[in-house]
Amino acid sequence: MTTAHPVEPLSFPAPRGACPFAPPPAYEQARREQPVSRVTLWDGSQCWMVTRHAEVRTVLRDQRFSSDASLPGFPFVTDGRRALANETISNLIRLDDPEHARLRRMLTADFMIKKTEVLRPRIQRIVDDFLDRMVAHGAPADLVTEYALPIPSLVICLLLGVDYVDHAYFQERSRVMLHNHSTVDQIRQARDELTDYLQQLAERKRREPDDGIISRLVARGELGDDEVATMGLLLLVAGHETTANMTSLSALALLRDPAQLARLRAEPALVKTAVEELLRFLSIVHSGLPRVATEDMVVGGETIRAGEGVLCMISAANRDEEVFATADQLDLARESRRHVAFGFGVHQCLGQPLARVELQIAVETLFRRLPGLQLAIPYEDIRFRTDMAIYGVHELPVTW
Ligand code: HEM
Repeated sequence: MTTAHPVEPLSFPAPRGACPFAPPPAYEQARREQPVSRVTLWDGSQCWMVTRHAEVRTVLRDQRFSSDASLPGFPFVTDGRRALANETISNLIRLDDPEHARLRRMLTADFMIKKTEVLRPRIQRIVDDFLDRMVAHGAPADLVTEYALPIPSLVICLLLGVDYVDHAYFQERSRVMLHNHSTVDQIRQARDELTDYLQQLAERKRREPDDGIISRLVARGELGDDEVATMGLLLLVAGHETTANMTSLSALALLRDPAQLARLRAEPALVKTAVEELLRFLSIVHSGLPRVATEDMVVGGETIRAGEGVLCMISAANRDEEVFATADQLDLARESRRHVAFGFGVHQCLGQPLARVELQIAVETLFRRLPGLQLAIPYEDIRFRTDMAIYGVHELPVTW
């Protein structure tokens, strides 16, 4: 059964409202009134937007909703992302099983919970080192560039076997790739330079192997250097921008909520639950997980035809009152494990055990070691990353 659509499709993306931590009010309204609705994209094309927790999970768990960006009707939220998908070897996030599963299996052992738990002491040292350096430079400091970004960046470099000395090179290029306002040419150039860099690295690892992921992918002999570079690119970009933005946005959300921060300081063991709640509350992957229907499907009473695109709004799903009571409140002790901040189904974030460990250590250490941490600029002057694929803040000047 398909219900009538009396209203004009929403123009996507919709602007955020007064609270920078909440999803755009239009998505929240859609979740309440029409959880499977039509939206118009930047190029005038239309697709579906799914906003309720139950339907988001329905779509993400069903592989008849494909992640294959080469299929007609796949929804792209910017021209840059369309260009990237059309011209690049698909990485596993944009492939379906069995090819997706074949590639993902090559990486699963590296990101298992057991494996990432072993990294805790090493990550703690990295976190302490960057905090020492920030403190030594003196206040005010930009928490993004001096703390939140370098931590996951160094960790993913170590795991991949990439030289951290090159971090400015790939951080700048991944920023261009994730910026919604980058031109198609800028995105092409950034992608080409990063791919060349990783391809040369793969060639080097062939001659001089180490125990990093790139080296092991090369040693398996199943992938060409270009495919290894594609995998490396995904891990490098996904591995640092996401965790970095979660760290700085979490710091800001806690500074804005002294009662919750006091609770965390009084009870540091709360940090694991707190990080899950922050993932739910902040939902930094804010532009929707894209899929395209390969068969006619009925979701939430609406018929989605084969070849029609769908955007799964995990930010709206994570504020669904049917699943999370008082969803608009940050409650660090809440049981929020059912959040979909890491996605759901076969593409669910591969790096989530690593992201959790990094976030738990980064958040706990920051507030333990700097009890006087506060903003160094008025809250109103903070620039939020509404223009980026991954939400967060552009910079976060702090004193302590
Ligand atoms: C997939 C979020 C950290 C690697 C995803 C997806 C989401 C996500 C929502 C699903 C995409 C989809 O279904 O279309 C996050 C968040 C992170 C984070 C919120 C941090 C707070 C990381 C890290 C790594 C990583 C640290 C790697 C080192 C990946 C990979 C995929 C993925 C490889 C694709 C998995 C697949 O398609 O099978 N992530 N991620 N992520 N993430 Fe993450």
